[in-house]
Amino acid sequence: MVSEPFARLGALLASTRHRWGPNPFLDEPLPWRDEAPELAAALDALPIEAIEALELQPGALPDPFGAWLAEAAWEVPMLPRVRLPEARWSRGVKGRKIGMIEAFGAVVNEQLSSELVDWCSGQGHLARALCLWGERTATCVEVQPEMCERGARRLGGHNLRFVCADVLEADLRAELIAGRSAVALHACGDLTIRLLEQSAELDGLAFAPCCYHATERASPAISAAAVDLAWEDQHIRLALTGEYVATSYVKRSRRKEQAWRCAFDRLMRAQSGRDVYHPTKSCPRSWLSQPFEGWARQMAEFSGYDLAPFDADNAEAAGWERARLVRARGLVRSIYRPLLELFLAMDRAMWLEERGRVVQLGRFCPPEVTPRNLVIVAR
Ligand SMILES: C[S@@+](CC[C@H](N)C(=O)[O-])C[C@H]1O[C@@H](n2cnc3c(N)ncnc32)[C@H](O)[C@@H]1O
Repeated sequence: MVSEPFARLGALLASTRHRWGPNPFLDEPLPWRDEAPELAAALDALPIEAIEALELQPGALPDPFGAWLAEAAWEVPMLPRVRLPEARWSRGVKGRKIGMIEAFGAVVNEQLSSELVDWCSGQGHLARALCLWGERTATCVEVQPEMCERGARRLGGHNLRFVCADVLEADLRAELIAGRSAVALHACGDLTIRLLEQSAELDGLAFAPCCYHATERASPAISAAAVDLAWEDQHIRLALTGEYVATSYVKRSRRKEQAWRCAFDRLMRAQSGRDVYHPTKSCPRSWLSQPFEGWARQMAEFSGYDLAPFDADNAEAAGWERARLVRARGLVRSIYRPLLELFLAMDRAMWLEERGRVVQLGRFCPPEVTPRNLVIVAR
């Protein structure tokens, strides 16, 4: 039953919200400084090398944080896997996607009926593989005609058909019928919710949710049991961050951009006399290849600010120092990040449990294959 751990996790997130809720980038007073002044001091004193080392081990913090870490330690088991039959399904599919589909298949293959619906299927790679691993037929539902066409061209002897439809608009209950199971691998936000809403007749479901922020709903949580955590958009995004799959070049660019944005914010606070965060627009990564001064001028014009002459070296150095503190504070947030994501996944499982489904929630692969590795299997 998901209800008991779900209630426990909701209570933990509610009671620690002041630690993970505020965004350190906005440079506001640290809300837990009075509660744990020695921890705040230890964090602020961390050299950048130590911060970088800790960032490589998500969920790690320096020693004085042992009690917080213990409180946030939450094991999510890998669901049992079966050995998949040999099958040639992956020609032309990229490496990481192959690993993802094989891991997903090994967890869900025994749980699915002989007729499948692959929800937001792309070219239907998952459905094609599951048809070969289980002598099944499948209907792939996908909005992009070119994906449907490419998938249909690859059909070979497999028993696949494509329905080209926008799942947010179309009524697809005629496809989601008794005797069938549905799979949805990374159908973003509301796309998965839409499947759940029309799933009452299905024999079962297996899905790995993602992009919880891609929703038109007031709250990203859907179950009646969800405690009201008063979600902000940045919290939902926090639930999804994680740099497992970023290249070192991308990571370096992100670090630089973060430091430069901190520097820019400090400059604008000083020049405008208003000690509040000065938001900037997102810019192409190529802008970062010039010196800081040029970037700051370009960003000011782009974001609609007047920027008076300034000492670029000092401003940039202050930005890197501010970014060091932001990253140190981000370490604390990072111990709650996986719990937020888990809470949203549990919420989907809870929604199904509230409707009488028997539900399992766990991981289907290690985070190196995909950081969005939670799967929910419902019968
Ligand atoms: C992240 S991809 C996952 C594809 C596939 N499940 C896989 O794992 O390879 C999400 C897919 O959802 C499709 N999609 C997005 N919006 C949709 C909609 N409104 N209706 C149907 N499909 C949609 C996209 O075109 C894309 O193929």
